[in-house]
Amino acid sequence: MTRKSTSSARWLDRHVTDKWVKQAQLDGYRSRASYKLIEIDKRDRLFTPGALVVDLGAAPGGWAQVASRALKDKGRVIALDLLEMEPLAGVEVIQGDFRDQQVLDDLLGRLDGGLADLVICDMAPNVSGIKAVDQPAMMYLLELTLDFCEQVLKTGGKLLTKTFEGAGMVEYRQQVKARFGRVVMRKPAASRDSSVEQYLLATGFRR
Ligand SMILES: C[S@@+](CC[C@H](N)C(=O)[O-])C[C@H]1O[C@@H](n2cnc3c(N)ncnc32)[C@H](O)[C@@H]1O
Repeated sequence: MTRKSTSSARWLDRHVTDKWVKQAQLDGYRSRASYKLIEIDKRDRLFTPGALVVDLGAAPGGWAQVASRALKDKGRVIALDLLEMEPLAGVEVIQGDFRDQQVLDDLLGRLDGGLADLVICDMAPNVSGIKAVDQPAMMYLLELTLDFCEQVLKTGGKLLTKTFEGAGMVEYRQQVKARFGRVVMRKPAASRDSSVEQYLLATGFRR
């Protein structure tokens, strides 16, 4: 029999009893993360008909499902992840590391000069549990995401991104505020209280 570490046993235990996991199975979503996006969308109306949406850190595809369902075939969803993602109707999938120039070029090539209405980003580095390692790795992804928005967002466009509260976030929020009309933080119910994750929503991109 395969041995289980105490922490993975605890994770498995929490996973099978988690109400969002159960709900995702009932609703046909690939991940419990879908409910974070659904809650934020309900409050902040992220999706508009015909929108071009880019989903960064998309696997296994829970957010991409929410986006394509919200757009009802009247828009475009491009999803990118390091990991392979099962095909999803109405979603264009790119596999690669967002930190690689070649992968970014592939993504920009797909846009072919078209500008996005919304960038959603649930990327997070593989956390080691060592804050001094994890926080800078997360801040690096956030910086790249903001650079990406500057390249691809329409005037008035939106960014929703996962963040980890910690070093660098005050300065990051200021950087985002300089480019967008409004910046708010969201902690949806499906985001575990024990997690440092919070979502930053920036609207009204200024070109
Ligand atoms: C929390 S999961 C995303 C869950 C997804 N939003 C959903 O609803 O199914 C974070 C994802 O970010 C991806 N990721 C982390 N670093 C990345 C990178 N540098 N480039 C691309 N994807 C990355 C991971 O592979 C992982 O699949």
